[in-house]
Amino acid sequence: MKICIIGSGYVGLVSGTCFSELGNKVICVDNNKQKIENLKKGVIPIFEPGLEELIIRNVKQKRLNFSTDVNNSIRNSDIIFICVGTPTNKNSNKANLKYVYKVVSDIKKNLNKYKIIVTKSTVPVTTGDQIEKILESKNKIKFDVVSNPEFLREGEAIRDFMYPDRVVIGTDSKKANNILKNLYLPLIKKTNRYFHTTRRAAELIKYASNAFLATKISFINEIANLCENTNIDVKEISAGIGLDNRIGDRFLRAGPGYGGSCFPKDTSALVTTSKQFKTNLSIVKSVINSNKSRYKILLNKINKIMKNKLKSKNITFLGVTFKPGTDDMREAASLKLIPYLINKGSNVSYYEPTGIKSNFNNNKVKYINNIKDACKKADLIIIHTEWNEFKQLNLKKISNKKNYKIYDLRNLYSPEKMKKNKVSYFSIGR
Ligand SMILES: NC(=O)c1ccc[n+]([C@@H]2O[C@H](COP(=O)([O-])OP(=O)(O)OC[C@H]3O[C@@H](n4cnc5c(N)ncnc54)[C@H](O)[C@@H]3O)[C@@H](O)[C@H]2O)c1
Repeated sequence: MKICIIGSGYVGLVSGTCFSELGNKVICVDNNKQKIENLKKGVIPIFEPGLEELIIRNVKQKRLNFSTDVNNSIRNSDIIFICVGTPTNKNSNKANLKYVYKVVSDIKKNLNKYKIIVTKSTVPVTTGDQIEKILESKNKIKFDVVSNPEFLREGEAIRDFMYPDRVVIGTDSKKANNILKNLYLPLIKKTNRYFHTTRRAAELIKYASNAFLATKISFINEIANLCENTNIDVKEISAGIGLDNRIGDRFLRAGPGYGGSCFPKDTSALVTTSKQFKTNLSIVKSVINSNKSRYKILLNKINKIMKNKLKSKNITFLGVTFKPGTDDMREAASLKLIPYLINKGSNVSYYEPTGIKSNFNNNKVKYINNIKDACKKADLIIIHTEWNEFKQLNLKKISNKKNYKIYDLRNLYSPEKMKKNKVSYFSIGR
């Protein structure tokens, strides 16, 4: 089977590379020329552990190729995975499907034989129906449109792809289902977690999964607020409720709120879809509001820690990405916190393992390329992202300032130990 991946970002590049690792011939396409030129030279555009080695190996084996030629790549392939972005349309809160429909129009022009068109991009329920209509209108050549939502997590993407909790395939076509089941066979042989359903159900499964996980995060964050006012450690609550198998212990870590490229946009698109189909997802709406206001709670706490004296204070962020293991800055809490602190006259600097970020668009925000120098003059250190290298710091001596403080948004340290060591340490939910 010849596979064409359109959109070589976090999802497309990982999926294409892993499919080639399984022995398939894959062409990864992108309309970003620079990205493709770099990939051809072995320069990987994203930070994703393990990806570079896999790409190099499969390019060498001539199973993996890169191209900007979308027309020929489609014509020469049997299965086309649409992996372009579906960001939020800021005016309507809908998923913006213009990138998806551009690819669909390219496919329409190049439908020269039976093909399976797969949406791996997260698309609202009934998008597959629309795609089918567009492709049907002129062309008599047979095709199937299938939904195969992707569940990989940045930072763990290779493992998630190779050892999936489940592979969801939404189609009524037996032929397409058989071909895709065969494609995924090496991954589902052991676990048999292949879930075949209708196309609409597959589309909704993705949104419902993300909305549910976002709900868990917001839930524990609100419980953390209660813990802070009742002198309880939220970690005790997470552990205590997580032992209940019906609840499970994952996604119960209180922190700065969910961010990234998926949860914020997918919860918002789901609410818009629900309105379109005349239902009210009031729980998801509350989750969105709760998460949106989360940063205000953090800022209040920062003000409290600093006794409302932020002007001219040196504040250092350890990590700025929305989570560890990725260079992705989309919807990171730092994007809200840092501009506020700059506005208040603080001197903000940051150390980030994946390097300097252009997102702050402000020359007052300083990048420092090692932890020691980043922290040595800090009045306040904010542990923003739980990178492993922040887990064993000597917080007792990290700054030269006399009364420096630490605000740990990831609860990486024991408050008791910090107290013993006379470190002025603040965490979430306690
Ligand atoms: N990032 C994740 O962790 C993740 C996980 C699961 C699902 N998803 C979903 O997968 C989709 C892709 O997400 P992503 O994070 O990989 O996005 P991304 O922005 O990293 O990558 C999208 C790529 O598509 C390219 N592109 C856009 N239009 C194109 C066109 N017409 N032809 C060729 N290339 C084109 C862009 O240049 C970009 O490289 C989204 O719908 C997202 O919701 C993402």
